Amino acid sequence: MLDNVSDLVFGAVFDAVDIGLVVIDSEGCVVCWNEWIARVARRPAQEVLGKSFYNIFPDARRTRLPAVIADAFQVGSSSILTHTLNALLPLRGEGGGPLLHNIIVRPVSSMHTNYCLLQITDVTVAVTRERVLRERQNARYHAIVDSAPDAIITIDDSRNIHWVNGAVDHVLGYDHSELLGQKLDVLLEPDNPLLPALAESVADQKVDTAISVVGRYKNGKSGYFDISLGHWRADQRDFVTTVWRDVTERVAADAALRDARDALQSTNEELESRVEERTREREIALRQLHESQKMESIGQLTGGVAHDFNNLLAVILGSLSLLKKTIPEDARISRLLDRAIQGAERGATLTSRLLAFARRQELKVEFVALQKLIPEMLDFLRHSVGPNITIHVGVSSEVCAVEVDANQLELALINLAVNARDAMPQGGSLTIACHNEENGKRVGLPRDPFVCITVTDTGEGMTEATLARAQEPFFTTKGIGKGTGLGLSMVQGFTAQSGGAMRISSRPGEGTTVTLWLPRAKQDAKAASAETEIARTKEARHLRVLLVDDDILVSMGAADMLLDLGHSVTEAPSGAQALRLLETDPPFDIVVTDYAMPGMNGFELAQRIKEKRPKLPIILATGYAELPADRSIEFGHLSKPYTSRDLASALDKALD
Ligand SMILES: Nc1ncnc2c1ncn2[C@@H]1O[C@H](COP(=O)(O)OP(=O)(O)OP(=O)(O)O)[C@@H](O)[C@H]1O
Ligand SMILES: [Mg+2]
Repeated sequence: MLDNVSDLVFGAVFDAVDIGLVVIDSEGCVVCWNEWIARVARRPAQEVLGKSFYNIFPDARRTRLPAVIADAFQVGSSSILTHTLNALLPLRGEGGGPLLHNIIVRPVSSMHTNYCLLQITDVTVAVTRERVLRERQNARYHAIVDSAPDAIITIDDSRNIHWVNGAVDHVLGYDHSELLGQKLDVLLEPDNPLLPALAESVADQKVDTAISVVGRYKNGKSGYFDISLGHWRADQRDFVTTVWRDVTERVAADAALRDARDALQSTNEELESRVEERTREREIALRQLHESQKMESIGQLTGGVAHDFNNLLAVILGSLSLLKKTIPEDARISRLLDRAIQGAERGATLTSRLLAFARRQELKVEFVALQKLIPEMLDFLRHSVGPNITIHVGVSSEVCAVEVDANQLELALINLAVNARDAMPQGGSLTIACHNEENGKRVGLPRDPFVCITVTDTGEGMTEATLARAQEPFFTTKGIGKGTGLGLSMVQGFTAQSGGAMRISSRPGEGTTVTLWLPRAKQDAKAASAETEIARTKEARHLRVLLVDDDILVSMGAADMLLDLGHSVTEAPSGAQALRLLETDPPFDIVVTDYAMPGMNGFELAQRIKEKRPKLPIILATGYAELPADRSIEFGHLSKPYTSRDLASALDKALD
């Protein structure tokens, strides 16, 4: 119990405190009412003391106040009622505005009597400050989200859109209000990884996740977006705020960059492979060049030697044939002479092969129908290869004619057949076939049409090393005395000189195929078709012959033959001398001149003579092919070495 002094002090304090203090009894009547509450309720203490609290504040009955007061009396519990959750008492501040307050309700007892104390606190200032702060915060927040370049969309756990910022307009093409209430799915392509990411973000309460997705603009087009997700909870509900950054342009630029990089890389690779290819081609070309230079110099050497031998053989053959005529009939001498002539003739065959390799053979180019030439050779070929080898020939009527020297072609085919025979000692088969080729480019020839003759055997074939050298002159695997190694050289030289080529393919144990590429005859060439030369017997006539040759031996041999044929001969050792003789000496019926001479060659001499004496027949004697092919027709022609019969027929022809 308080004494009087204390009562006085308590009364002063009771009225001085800055909170409202109200005590009510179990009947609900006001027992204490301090100054503060009297002021804000606008009711002085004397007016309310002893009165029912609910009569003073009738509206308080509709609040939670009666219930918590009853609890305080019945179970002695204390409660706090806050202004935010409860509409409380109609109190007013000094300015007359509503006074925001909280009420603490607690039981008190005095002298075995229970009371209930209501402590009413003014929270107007704190609440106002809080509101101002919140408004400021909100303003700051809006300033940020509305000026953000990315679209910000908040959804609930059912993906319903609750809130969007202004950027959805330019990022996704939607009006600000259009999206509210819609499902987020309208912004996504189907099967989008965002949906599982959202579910995961909610389930794991993830605060921050980032993901790249394909989204959909309002116009229906697709775009690429980097989206960051932030999960948050409020009022026991889950929300996710998504921030959408449009990266379509960047993705396109990246793709373009990637494409450009890929293109650059593939260009680089292509370039590298091209460089490699070129280098390889260059190496091959260099090897081929080296090979052809080697062959060229061997050819020149061979050609030079063969030419000199040819001249010597011409002398020997000429002299021998004259000897045979002049020496009286004697069996032994005549046998010896025949053997010498045969030997010289074999030598001539050899030099002609050498000349063929050196591409210096005198070619009589003519129109050759393979359908005729090959079957006509068959008997001879069979004879050459023997009975153990079967020959198959296939030349269809479509195969075009070729323009080559027929004799040389026959020789070439015989050479190939003999090679095949040597490769098939136990027998086998030899096939000669022909076909047209429209373009020679494949084998390094011009684009012109060609005809190919293939000669295939089923023989032992060649090793790589043999194949590489087979065309070289004097290369043979047949042992000394058995092969000259000139067969393929001759064929190769002949085809090259004819404007074609030879190709060999062969493997050990798999036989060999040799292909001859020969120039196809032009249609009008048919008119110039080879006529079989008919030996014509001319009545003997006496001719005055001007014989020009720088080689004294050859000249003497030829002069002897001419004399033997009943003609008179004047010899000149050079072109200049010949021209002088033509001016001073009695008229000549014919000029026979060597081609290869120092100073003025036979062709130049023939031309000079033709200018002055166009009617005078001229014969060019040559074992060479330096003579331009088209020019040789202007003059008569004699191939060295020649016999007196060859000479006689050349004279006849020239005088015709
Ligand atoms: N059909 C072939 N099958 C297997 N090897 C071949 C064939 N043709 C040529 N050869 C090889 O090429 C080499 C050269 O041939 P080439 O015809 O030039 O000379 P050869 O036949 O040896 O001598 P020759 O022709 O003077 O008798 C031969 O020795 C042989 O080794
Ligand atoms: Mg051979």
